[in-house]
Amino acid sequence: MVDQRSIRVALLYLMFLLLFESTFGQQVQQQQQRLSSGIEFTALFELRSSLGLRSREWPRKVDPCTRWNGITCENGSVIGINISGFRRTRVGKQNPQFAVDSLANFSHLVSFNASKFLLPGSIPNWFGQRLLTLQVLDLRSCNVTGVIPSSIGNLTNLTSLYLSDNRLTGQIPSTLGQLLSLLVLDLSKNLLTGSIPSSFVSLRDLTSLDISSNNLTGSIPPGIGALSKLQSLNLSDNSLISSIPAQLGDLDSLVDLDLSSNGLSGLVPQDLRGLRNLQRMVFGNNGLGGSLPANLFPAPSQLQVIVLRNNSFIGDLPVVLWSIPGLNLLDISHNNFTGELPNSALNYNATAAVLDISHNKFYGGLTTVLGRFSSIDVSGNYFEGRVPDYVHDNASLSTNCLQNVSNQRTLTECVSFYAERGLSFDDFGRPNSTEPSAPETGKSNRRTIILATVLGGAGLIVLLMLLLLLVLCVRRRSTANHREIGVGPVPARETPPSLGVDINFSNLGDLFTYQQLLQATGDFGDANLIKHGHSGDLFRGILEGGLPVVIKRIDLQSIKKEAYLLELDFFSKVSHPRVVPLLGHCLEKENEKFLVYKYMPNGDLSSSLYRKNNLEDDSLQSLDWITRLKIAIGAAEGLSYLHHECTPPLVHRDVQASSILLDDKFEVRLGSLSEVCAQEGDGHQNRITRLLRLPQSSEQGSSGSSTALCAYDVYCFGKVLLGLVTGKLDISASSDTQMKEWLEQTLPYITIYDKELVTKILDPSLLVDEDLLEEVWAMAIVARSCLNPKPSRRPLMRYILKALENPLRVVREDTSSSARLRATSSRGSWNAALFGSWRQSASDVTVIPPASTTRAEGGSSFKHSGTTGSQGSAPNGGGDHSSSHRRHSKEIFPEPPEAQDIERPDRD
Ligand SMILES: *[C@@H]1O[C@H](CO)[C@@H](O)[C@H](O)[C@H]1NC(C)=O
Ligand SMILES: *[C@@H]1O[C@H](CO)[C@@H](O)[C@H](O)[C@H]1NC(C)=O
Ligand SMILES: *[C@@H]1O[C@H](CO)[C@@H](O)[C@H](O)[C@H]1NC(C)=O
Ligand SMILES: *[C@@H]1O[C@H](CO)[C@@H](O)[C@H](O)[C@H]1NC(C)=O
Ligand SMILES: *[C@@H]1O[C@H](CO)[C@@H](O)[C@H](O)[C@H]1NC(C)=O
Ligand SMILES: *[C@@H]1O[C@H](CO)[C@@H](O)[C@H](O)[C@H]1NC(C)=O
Ligand SMILES: *[C@@H]1O[C@H](CO)[C@@H](O)[C@H](O)[C@H]1NC(C)=O
Ligand SMILES: *[C@@H]1O[C@H](CO)[C@@H](O)[C@H](O)[C@H]1NC(C)=O
Repeated sequence: MVDQRSIRVALLYLMFLLLFESTFGQQVQQQQQRLSSGIEFTALFELRSSLGLRSREWPRKVDPCTRWNGITCENGSVIGINISGFRRTRVGKQNPQFAVDSLANFSHLVSFNASKFLLPGSIPNWFGQRLLTLQVLDLRSCNVTGVIPSSIGNLTNLTSLYLSDNRLTGQIPSTLGQLLSLLVLDLSKNLLTGSIPSSFVSLRDLTSLDISSNNLTGSIPPGIGALSKLQSLNLSDNSLISSIPAQLGDLDSLVDLDLSSNGLSGLVPQDLRGLRNLQRMVFGNNGLGGSLPANLFPAPSQLQVIVLRNNSFIGDLPVVLWSIPGLNLLDISHNNFTGELPNSALNYNATAAVLDISHNKFYGGLTTVLGRFSSIDVSGNYFEGRVPDYVHDNASLSTNCLQNVSNQRTLTECVSFYAERGLSFDDFGRPNSTEPSAPETGKSNRRTIILATVLGGAGLIVLLMLLLLLVLCVRRRSTANHREIGVGPVPARETPPSLGVDINFSNLGDLFTYQQLLQATGDFGDANLIKHGHSGDLFRGILEGGLPVVIKRIDLQSIKKEAYLLELDFFSKVSHPRVVPLLGHCLEKENEKFLVYKYMPNGDLSSSLYRKNNLEDDSLQSLDWITRLKIAIGAAEGLSYLHHECTPPLVHRDVQASSILLDDKFEVRLGSLSEVCAQEGDGHQNRITRLLRLPQSSEQGSSGSSTALCAYDVYCFGKVLLGLVTGKLDISASSDTQMKEWLEQTLPYITIYDKELVTKILDPSLLVDEDLLEEVWAMAIVARSCLNPKPSRRPLMRYILKALENPLRVVREDTSSSARLRATSSRGSWNAALFGSWRQSASDVTVIPPASTTRAEGGSSFKHSGTTGSQGSAPNGGGDHSSSHRRHSKEIFPEPPEAQDIERPDRD
């Protein structure tokens, strides 16, 4: 049968040659296009009959090179066959065939395109041995079966390989990674299994990779970042698991990224902001969780499509997302996003943009940001208030807390939702957030102080003073030998006074099983280890719901049991917005205990101050001044809470940059709480001795080396502040001698007389203008006062907080007033006057220092810095404090160093 046909074809070729020579000879000569190979001629006819092509497309008796549609020749050889879109004859359709072996005879074939032409059978293994000249192989929608032969990897001149929409099975051969010329690889819509070969990362020239709609498993190869020319990456609709590798962020040519409908979990890596050309980002239908990094989206963003639907995202939607100019589809439905819509009057034209934020936990009123969308679905949230005009009639509004709209939630549901978040649900307006309520302890503390002052009759006080004087003198003598000439307290970690271990476990968050934690952290694998802390190993993990957490594993064989009990005790009693939230615990194992904390996206201060700016190059980007000040204020708020609002006052004892944790908005949450203890002895004693200007009983003997005093925290905080100014945060972790040396070199540059001097120690990576320099100067002054070698002369944390909140008042008020004091002081010594006021005022709030009354008149004209908002969101913190706390800024004033302290430099 075959023989007969080839004979017929051979005859035909002969006839054709004769005919051609005689009639069209000259014409063909000019074109140099005539098919010159008999083998290829035969092969073409074999193809023709197996495919059942019509004469219209491939007519007989003419030269295929010149007359057949879709045949391209060069030098008398077929180099291109394109039957895409052709149709078989009726007869051909009945029994579709494909004489694929005939392709082996085209030894110069560069391109074979049969897309949308049904080709029964599979890709033969010899493709990779014979079609070595092939550059384009397009078999899209050809109903091809079988596996992709690994020999395809031999076709190293291949630039485009399209095999999508077939019924290919088996694994993707890793040899495809040898196709180094490949620009386009499309294996989508098949039945491929196995994982994405890691060899793909060698395809450096690839611009488009589509392996969507298969049944691939495993994870996305992390090396994918090497495909730097990739413009389109589609891995959607598979069964990929694990997380999105951060290296994706290196694909800065990427325009289209689709990872939807897989089993991906974990966080969206922050580094994706490197995708500066991204127009379409689709992460829908996965198990992704956590909150979106606020700076995930690069600006100016080219994004047009963002689909995050059906994941487990939580937290606020980054505000920047609403102002992406070209956005025409934003679908974040079916997540747990929360927060209020921003209220910005962006005048983007109402485009055909589509918004779907349905089935989340948004609340508050509908705002103007909705104005730019022509199709809106906000159903299944907790929006309240009226529906504004710019929301079109066709918007989906059901299942909210809106007024005058049908199908809304019940009032109870709405009220309890708002109440849970500390918001008041107001049926007629926006919710108003309530301040996180100060714990009861704070109030009672204040009450006792007031009570004590009221009741403290003169006689009683005198009696007490005499008694104390006696006691102190005796103690002082006995401890005189222990005087240290060091620059500050030595952090000796002795056992702290106990907080009292009666732990209320109901305040300690959820109870986790060991199994859950194993799962969350990948069996506490090294990949998830954050660091070995002194109170336990910290791991990052992701809970089942996608919530990212930090888990501390405390090995009781190497860590004292008290430490973790103290921490539990602390969390059972204390909850404050400035303290890292404890989400739960697991105590079921005997020798290992676990505490689960909220994940802090920005890590801690020591790791955040400088971060790699991996957008452009490897240069380091440092936190700007405004953020540094915000962090300082936040940390001071936390410490002030511990020192002044808890009874007894709590000492953190581990204040350093790595204990200052930062959430996604750089709000401070204090961590490292395993050292917290109640302040040693009785706070009152210290106050009274200061009031008396007595030599401090505990000055060196006890607080000089003791860490269990608030003044120790203040000292450590001083180091942090100095670190923020100088950029040398790590110095506090260095040895005592180094620390001392550094302070001796640095502190002389901080003086109240000369603002410019501080620029000599200023972090060179900080860009500060004249206004900001005053704030820097103020922080430096505060730092210096905290670093006073004498614990009793360090300012109280609440005054430090006030000073940081009103930095300009520290420098502007005090420089002028000290000048005045200097001029008028009868003893001619400004520092004596200053000391007096400092000591008196530092002793307690209830004692009003005489100097403050003379100061009050000028107080109302003080300027406030615009950056003092303690919560970072609104710069409105300054005004409220101005009148009530006018006198405190002076308490911050550093005293001039004494002889045995660090010497002042010669100024000039
Ligand atoms: C065609 O083949 C001849 C020799 O067979 C060669 O000299 C010429 O370079 C070839 N032309 C092309 C375009 O390959
Ligand atoms: C692949 O392409 C290169 C350059 O275009 C060419 O020199 C080489 O001969 C080709 N290889 C094959 C097997 O055709
Ligand atoms: C693809 O081939 C299978 C048999 O191999 C056949 O059942 C199916 O109908 C074909 N699909 C199309 C679209 O022709
Ligand atoms: C092609 O690849 C196969 C395996 O993938 C290999 O065994 C074979 O030697 C290769 N052939 C050529 C001609 O390179
Ligand atoms: C995908 O693969 C898994 C096992 O690897 C199998 O259970 C599942 O049925 C497959 N799904 C499809 C659509 O083939
Ligand atoms: C949202 O959170 C609730 C619990 O707070 C959980 O039950 C639910 O599954 C979450 N929804 C999504 C889409 O993650
Ligand atoms: C709004 O539309 C006008 C004209 O159609 C156009 O010139 C302008 O750039 C558009 N503005 C925005 C923000 O798209
Ligand atoms: C804020 O909430 C309180 C109740 O918590 C309410 O009395 C007050 O009127 C509310 N203010 C506004 C502006 O809604």
